[in-house]
Amino acid sequence: MKIFNNKLELKAFLKKYKNNDVLKVGFVPTMGNLHQGHMQLIEAARAQNDLVVCSVFINPLQFEAHEDLDTYPRTLDEDIIKLSASKCDILYAPPEIDLYSESTDSQTTVHVSGLSEGFCGKSRPQHFEGVATIVSKLFNLIRPDTAYFGLKDYQQFLVVKKLNLDLELGVEIVGIEIFRENNGLALSSRNKYLTEVEIKSAPLLFQTLKKLSGEILEGNRNYCEIEKRGSELLANTDFTVDYFAIRNALDLKPLAKDDSEIIILAAATINKTRLIDNVRFSISENLSV
Ligand code: PAF
Repeated sequence: MKIFNNKLELKAFLKKYKNNDVLKVGFVPTMGNLHQGHMQLIEAARAQNDLVVCSVFINPLQFEAHEDLDTYPRTLDEDIIKLSASKCDILYAPPEIDLYSESTDSQTTVHVSGLSEGFCGKSRPQHFEGVATIVSKLFNLIRPDTAYFGLKDYQQFLVVKKLNLDLELGVEIVGIEIFRENNGLALSSRNKYLTEVEIKSAPLLFQTLKKLSGEILEGNRNYCEIEKRGSELLANTDFTVDYFAIRNALDLKPLAKDDSEIIILAAATINKTRLIDNVRFSISENLSV
């Protein structure tokens, strides 16, 4: 695996490769601290492309002032071992100065309107602008054919898809299913913050999503009541709930009568650790109910 920490060297290298126009480039952007969820993205990119590029960059622009930028796990040496073993071809792991040459305050930013505002965007007002900005920069540098994103961050996935469409970036955006522990807990770098006691409560988030999606699949359409009950079930345990919402999975808008693609998405905090998760399903066969 070739490692770059300088964008000009990376660009020069990729340009040489792309002169051979049969080459398909797959890109996996990450903030490092790689786990099985990330490795699934790399595997998908490996299976579908000639060249696999991964980035490891903890993007300061997507953290709110009070958030965990300083303590976010930095494990580049371990990440390099995992990426080499997974046959990633190129790692771009730049220092902040390589991508934000001036202060991040004077950086031109990209705002994806509508989708960025609700859910995680409500409690993290800068977050999606930070994500959209770094993803645009990385797409422009790497010019991938296909880019891979985990579906745990489902709102981020839709934000990136809209950004790609609205700015005519022409990248194929692929979403990869959530990787879960046996108890259902979705893998996340932030799970590292959970204490031994908290990690026992954490799977309840997925279990609640699953239980209530089961009720919808069985015909319950009282979405407001289900949302309220979902929040209460979590709040009655160790969670402080940010949102628990049932929406159209295609655009996160409130469900209209004939909508069949459903997502239940939730964010909740245990002590200081914020967890997000979702379940998606179709009720198309039940439309006549
Ligand atoms: O999902 C992430 O790890 C980050 O938000 C991303 C897409 C790498 C942008 O920094």
